[in-house]
Amino acid sequence: MLKLENLTASIGDVQILKGIDLEIKPGELHAIMGPNGSGKSTLCHVVMGNETYQEHGKILVENSDLSGQKQLERSNAGVFQSFQYPVGLPGVTLREFSQNINKELNNEEIEKLAEKFSVKEFLDREVNVDLSGGEKKRCELFQISLTSPKVALLDEIDSGLDIDAIKSVAELINANRDENTSYLIVTHYSRILKYLDVNMVHIVVDGEIVKSGSKELIDEVDSDGYTQYQGK
Ligand SMILES: Nc1ncnc2c1ncn2[C@@H]1O[C@H](COP(=O)(O)OP(=O)(O)OP(=O)(O)O)[C@@H](O)[C@H]1O
Ligand SMILES: [Mg+2]
Repeated sequence: MLKLENLTASIGDVQILKGIDLEIKPGELHAIMGPNGSGKSTLCHVVMGNETYQEHGKILVENSDLSGQKQLERSNAGVFQSFQYPVGLPGVTLREFSQNINKELNNEEIEKLAEKFSVKEFLDREVNVDLSGGEKKRCELFQISLTSPKVALLDEIDSGLDIDAIKSVAELINANRDENTSYLIVTHYSRILKYLDVNMVHIVVDGEIVKSGSKELIDEVDSDGYTQYQGK
């Protein structure tokens, strides 16, 4: 579903991603872990088509190469990004936003989905304005259920959440999961991954995937940190 081939990204002379190869099959969930500043968010931004970065390499979604395309085209091709720091949209209510991102849903259907994601009470408030951290993350997951993307990039969906909220966010991810969507989840913590069915874990250090493996890698990171991978 998502295949990255030798994906690089730079800003001016500074190279941030140094050749990422990754394949996430339909319905799979892969976790990206790595130290601060290693390029995890950049990876999400570049796949989504953020023009701040000069990208090279291939970004294949269902075998069509999105590299060089604009964000809107990538979004239409089924790429969804949830931000580490979701931005507010003053003047736009969550209901209006929802109606716009999926015009096929009627109000009743939107409310039903909103209830499932415990965001119904926010439908008539502005998107992400003055919501708590956990409330914003629930709204991000609600958007996935509205759009059914082919590829969902979730950047630190667990950051700033209390223990119970992490569990409920994981449950909402599980509730969304099906064979049509591949997930890339960036996280620093093993806690959320314990509640998810993770197919593969990739460790990113200094713009490169230095190790990939199964769920056992999470415990390796947990007990020994990232220095073990540095300089590899
Ligand atoms: N727009 C930008 N301009 C300049 N440098 C940038 C830009 N975006 C990212 N970088 C740099 O690229 C590196 C990787 O940043 P990125 O945000 O991808 O890290 P990260 O792995 O997501 O870190 P964290 O775990 O702290 O969120 C950092 O050194 C960052 O300062
Ligand atoms: Mg980040």
